[in-house]
Amino acid sequence: MNNYLTSNIFRKVLASLSGLFLVTFLIGHLLGNLQLFIPGVEGQTQFNKYAFFMTTNPVVKLLSIITYSAIFLHIFITLYLVIQSKRARPVQYAVSNGKDNSSWSSRNMSVLGTVLLFFLIVHLKSFWYEMHFGEMPYQYLSDGTKIKDLHLITTSAFQNPFYTFFYVFCMVALSLHLKHGVESAIQTVGLKIPSYEKFFKYGAMLVAFSIPAVFASIPIYLYVSSL
Ligand code: HEM
Repeated sequence: MNNYLTSNIFRKVLASLSGLFLVTFLIGHLLGNLQLFIPGVEGQTQFNKYAFFMTTNPVVKLLSIITYSAIFLHIFITLYLVIQSKRARPVQYAVSNGKDNSSWSSRNMSVLGTVLLFFLIVHLKSFWYEMHFGEMPYQYLSDGTKIKDLHLITTSAFQNPFYTFFYVFCMVALSLHLKHGVESAIQTVGLKIPSYEKFFKYGAMLVAFSIPAVFASIPIYLYVSSL
């Protein structure tokens, strides 16, 4: 048991479970962000009330801490596994470097992961940091109460074409990262049962394509509607 806890198999299982958990976070985050498609003051009020709830509700706060921990764990373990495999095989094979029997995304998971880490730093600085620690504008509701206007911060950010392009580019990286990551995680945690193989394969492809595509549609929509 002690051997298993310090083995690479266990580390791969942890990397896979944290990755799969982050996919469920992405689905929840995406569903919440779909409110940005609601036009006018109604959309602004609904999104700001939602952001207030998400930053003050104790259950959501606990979920947020679990999410940050999963992000750290995922980055830490995958980095460790990459460094270890590089140390074990410092020189590339002379005959085959793996290009013939592996996909581009599987060979470039660390590059894609690094792009996503950079995206996350920029993303959290733009919205999460501003919401929690920045000087926020306020929306005044009809009953006289005031509420932090995260909707204004978000919609204003995507008036910038470069910022919008950066998001769309990063969603392509997310798609490629998920394409290999989800399929490989399913295999590692032992869900690749022969009779369900096709189900999981197409399920992974659907997740890898649809989540980033819908995420990318939000900045594009906000940019186009600001023109
Ligand atoms: C492209 C469309 C996206 C939009 C418009 C968006 C918007 C936001 C906003 C407004 C917040 C601040 C919410 C708050 O502090 O309550 C936030 C937080 C966050 N976003 Fe995004 N996001 C997008 C995509 C993503 C993606 C693709 C990821 C991950 C790869 C991500 C990861 C996060 C994380 C980890 C937080 C902090 C959540 C927490 O405190 O619990 N977001 N996002």
